[in-house]
Amino acid sequence: MTFSRRGFLAGLAAAPIAVSAGCALGRSDIAASGPRPLPIPPLADSTVGADGVRNFRLTLAPGTAEILPGKRTPTWGLNGPYLGPTLRARRGETVAFQVRNDLPEPTTVHWHGMRVPARMDGGPHQTIATGGTWAPSWTIEQQAATLWYHPHPHGGTEKHVYRGLAGFFLIDDDAADALDLPNDYGVDDIPLVIQDRRFTADGALDESDPTDIGLLGDTIVTNGIAGAYFRARTSRIRLRLLNGSSGRLYNLGFADNREFQVVGTDGGLLPKPVPLNRIQLSPGERAEIVVPVQAGDQVMLRALPIENRGDMDAAEAREFGFDDSFDILQVRGAASVRTAAVVPDSLIPRVAIPTAGAAANRRFELQWFQINKLQMDMNRIDFTVAADSTEVWTVRNADNWPHNFHVHDVQFQITEIDGAAPPPVLAGWKDTVYTEPGSIYTLVMRFSEHTDPTYPYMYHCHLLLHEDHGMMGQFLVLGPGQQPAPMQMPMSHGGHG
Ligand code: C2O
Ligand code: CU
Ligand code: CU
Repeated sequence: MTFSRRGFLAGLAAAPIAVSAGCALGRSDIAASGPRPLPIPPLADSTVGADGVRNFRLTLAPGTAEILPGKRTPTWGLNGPYLGPTLRARRGETVAFQVRNDLPEPTTVHWHGMRVPARMDGGPHQTIATGGTWAPSWTIEQQAATLWYHPHPHGGTEKHVYRGLAGFFLIDDDAADALDLPNDYGVDDIPLVIQDRRFTADGALDESDPTDIGLLGDTIVTNGIAGAYFRARTSRIRLRLLNGSSGRLYNLGFADNREFQVVGTDGGLLPKPVPLNRIQLSPGERAEIVVPVQAGDQVMLRALPIENRGDMDAAEAREFGFDDSFDILQVRGAASVRTAAVVPDSLIPRVAIPTAGAAANRRFELQWFQINKLQMDMNRIDFTVAADSTEVWTVRNADNWPHNFHVHDVQFQITEIDGAAPPPVLAGWKDTVYTEPGSIYTLVMRFSEHTDPTYPYMYHCHLLLHEDHGMMGQFLVLGPGQQPAPMQMPMSHGGHG
């Protein structure tokens, strides 16, 4: 049995985890009914007022969903029983939300990847009480990208996301529209959120026995159902992939090893398409890929064992699901497919953030549930950042556990991984990066002009159990001469203990 530091921390014995390396379609209930068509999250309704502001409504509430065929699973969702609608807005637009919480406990809604004023960020300081409504509003200032939203309550993010609270937030702009990429939502431009879940015999979500990297499921759920297929009617489809899992990484590729073009990462489109046949996503990361499809195709998008293990030992790798393989989504080509345009050779030029004169160089060491040997404290501001400044952050995974690193309010550029330039697929805009045990990542980021002496932004490991256990810190963005004036919260410790 692996020594469990989480178990040690919580004073619990480490329990062996029954996560099989089986595939979702191996489940007897799915095998019996056959795959079902991939649900496409509906585009959220919005209204644009005379002031030009685009208004959305989100209601978080419990529900019941048929994630497994013929089974009723109690869930939480946004405007529906599981997951939420796809929000869509254009660069330059002002958006406004009425977010109502009809859950039995407080939550928050965070706009992951969004440049947004800190008090609109939806982090752990923007709690929405049961029965309460939160009304954030901001202007979209960033390029076209596949972002997402999810709760971020202090100490409770894993549970809230696991029960179903998450959705896509797509940003459009003229530069992306001018490119001939598949962009017919739900037809050839497909959001695909990949989550692993475990179910009890009666179909309830099993929240027991987290590993040291959180709840690992034995069943893959895509856009809210297990055992999905997508029927393509065009010779190229764009998949907007989101790892919406708590702790599981996916090394994605097609069963026939077909090549696809990676056209975008967390914060937007790449300078040019990157041809690959595998792409790895850690929790919170996104990638947009364009996949060739032929008439009559039947090909499985699969998750294969994770390759970047660094200093992890074999027993830990097994405990963390790094050896597992899964079927993710079957792609079927219709009997005849419409010929789609080839992917353009160049997409959105990459403008390197100049690092000369960076305002600060900071170091972050990831280990256990800690960053720089500290656990999150809602009442501690870890550092302050000057508005509209550039910083260089060096992040080292000093652990033999996998971690990743996410920063609020910015999209960063990875300039080095262990002293070398990153591969092209990691050279675009990112807000979350996998940190392999033992490796060092250098990130460059430009902070916005949104200053706030009271409300901080977060940086954290996006393995949600790690975040919940305190692997998070907070910073204020301040204008010239501004002094920190943080709120004192009544609860000041890391949620679990
Ligand atoms: Cu996806 Cu701090 O969050
Ligand atoms: Cu975030
Ligand atoms: Cu972590």
